[in-house]
Amino acid sequence: MKDSKSEKLNRQPWKPLTASYCCSSDDRAIFGNFSRCRPSKSEFSKNIGGAPPLPSFRKLTFSDVSLGSSSARINEDLAQTFGGDLYDFQMSELRGATQNFSSNFLLGEGGFGRVHKGYVDESLRAGLKAQPVAVKLLDIEGLQGHREWLAEVIFLGQLRHPNLVKLIGYCCEDEERVLVYEFMPRGSLENHLFKRGLSISLPWATRLKIAIGAAKGLAFLHGAEKPVIYRDFKTSNILLDSDFNAKLSDFGLAKMGPEGSNTHVTTRVMGTYGYAAPEYVSTGHLTTKSDIYSFGVVLLELLTGRRAMEKARPKNEQNLVDWTKPYLTSSRRLRCIMDPRLAGQYSVKGAKGMGLLALQCVNLNPKDRPKMPAIIETLESLQQLKDMAITYGQWPASTKTGRNAGYPAKERRQSGFGCKSAAVAASPRSK
Ligand SMILES: Nc1ncnc2c1ncn2[C@@H]1O[C@H](COP(=O)(O)OP(=O)(O)OP(=O)(O)O)[C@@H](O)[C@H]1O
Ligand SMILES: [Mg+2]
Repeated sequence: MKDSKSEKLNRQPWKPLTASYCCSSDDRAIFGNFSRCRPSKSEFSKNIGGAPPLPSFRKLTFSDVSLGSSSARINEDLAQTFGGDLYDFQMSELRGATQNFSSNFLLGEGGFGRVHKGYVDESLRAGLKAQPVAVKLLDIEGLQGHREWLAEVIFLGQLRHPNLVKLIGYCCEDEERVLVYEFMPRGSLENHLFKRGLSISLPWATRLKIAIGAAKGLAFLHGAEKPVIYRDFKTSNILLDSDFNAKLSDFGLAKMGPEGSNTHVTTRVMGTYGYAAPEYVSTGHLTTKSDIYSFGVVLLELLTGRRAMEKARPKNEQNLVDWTKPYLTSSRRLRCIMDPRLAGQYSVKGAKGMGLLALQCVNLNPKDRPKMPAIIETLESLQQLKDMAITYGQWPASTKTGRNAGYPAKERRQSGFGCKSAAVAASPRSK
């Protein structure tokens, strides 16, 4: 079982969307700019004399979903909304595209279900570009449900940006819910940072490039006319193209930000342990600053090569934020927790800059966390730094005994920031 799967915060089982449920404050925040959930006056007038005025998602119930007619209704509504921007596939077409969801084509599995590689081309739909795709199948018995599928279609159907993964189409057939994305050849950042068996570690410059790409995706969401809170920023949701350009995926938990004079959106607490901002976990108050906290956690993962939460570590090292905080303010301390797979091939100043930025992002006071444009500016300024630790005399971080390398004897005794932990960091990875 995947980390992210087992450590999800309060992932909800499949829930029917009833009229009152869909238009609860929680759902208004999700579907806020999707006209079907909150129709405008003009829409009411468009519907005069025809079908009921609020035909689609408001009426969706569990029993509706079991009926083909209801899926047809959803398809009709989505087709009306997204027109030619998204393809509405049939299951038979997707079976053909993935060799019947063959396990040979399995790309991965998350809380939503399994993801298979497939191929689509013009033989499926006129004008459809021949391309590999990733096909995500909703696991109806799983922890996420129709509601998240719909949120994903609605958000990704409308939001287009080079740093967001492109949704090509969807399938809603009887109880099947499927999402079809552009295929990202290098998979997720999680796989590159943490999976054993990948012999080549991500170089420092690539880590920086990925952080900047992901930051641009998040900046786009936060900077939208109606800001979007992503709510699930983590390494498994950062996908990589062949040139290591980062794209955010998984908008099932995304929310429209607060409107008017409201400072936050109140929601059920959902997300992934280790990444969720403490104030969000304790109050349910969600702001764009909750995403900034998660961004800081990912920066720490890029620096250390450790996961946000590692239960197999000693207690004081399980939570990455708590463990790293005392090391982030000086490059001499920082080297003790740098990812040993970098083997000193990182900029000392760059790592320090990233460490300080991460520290600001995970500030307990959300107001003191930086905004995305400032984060991008800082990260971009680190790209030109070439003072590699290995040539700068800052690596190896530890002596043969793995302790306190390079520290004056006095500091070693007093500071408690020797490199004892570096030896721990270099120990086999655990989940
Ligand atoms: N568009 C894609 N292109 C290539 N691989 C993908 C794509 N989308 C997903 N994957 C692969 O499938 C895996 C599972 O993705 P999925 O989003 O279902 O779960 P997750 O992100 O690991 O966990 P969670 O459900 O918590 O988000 C990813 O880690 C990635 O390796
Ligand atoms: Mg994911």
